[in-house]
Amino acid sequence: MNQNTMKLFSGLLLLSMVVLVSSCSKDPGKPGYEYMPDMYRSPSYKTYEVNALFADSSSARLPVAGSVPRGYIFFNYPSSNEGYEAAGRDLKNPFESNAVNLAEGKRLYTNFCMHCHGETGNGDGQLIGTGKFPPPPSYSSGVSSRGGNMRDLTDGKIYHTITYGINLMGPHASQVNPEERWKITMYVHELAKAGAAPAPAASDSTAAPKDSTVAMN
Ligand code: HEC
Repeated sequence: MNQNTMKLFSGLLLLSMVVLVSSCSKDPGKPGYEYMPDMYRSPSYKTYEVNALFADSSSARLPVAGSVPRGYIFFNYPSSNEGYEAAGRDLKNPFESNAVNLAEGKRLYTNFCMHCHGETGNGDGQLIGTGKFPPPPSYSSGVSSRGGNMRDLTDGKIYHTITYGINLMGPHASQVNPEERWKITMYVHELAKAGAAPAPAASDSTAAPKDSTVAMN
């Protein structure tokens, strides 16, 4: 190695050390020199970053007032007796009553309603069995506290009840979405019908509710 190469070599070494040292910054808020920064620094705003483009300086924008999620099922009835009556008058279950929907209704009923209303809807669920709460009226033979027989409750009245609750029964709007509420409504009708059928005592006890209640297996 001659002298010139040595000089060149140590010159390069010095240069790279200068670059290395000067590319670090003491300020932790500054990244120092970055190689192709736009590869990892996108110009878009981060969710909670301050944003001068908007009056409230928030980057996390709310949906425009009145926006509705795709597929949203409207329910414009207030939580009142009038809302209950109006829903009961206007609404029909939009889902077809078939084995699949009833099975889903039964599954949801088992998870969200059975502990109070009982497996067959007679108001004898596990929670009622503790004796600490008055039993809800039977779907088939009870009387609604808002008037009329339970078995005559319309789709809309049941749906309204699931959504807002009534007295001791809490609202279930946060537990079950609209589609699920309609499927439960379908199943409640099924329980009301099954319970309202003439007692199987007559002649053959095996025939009675089986085929009328698809999902009761
Ligand atoms: C914490 C116990 C409890 C749970 C859970 C519960 N209910 Fe009730 N439910 C009641 C009681 C108590 C009543 C009677 C309330 C009253 O009329 O004072 C009632 C009343 C009803 C009525 C009659 C409403 C009317 O118009 O008179 C329906 C229908 C009903 N429940 C359906 C359901 C369905 C469906 C579920 C599950 C999504 C459910 N309930 C969950 C306790 C419960």
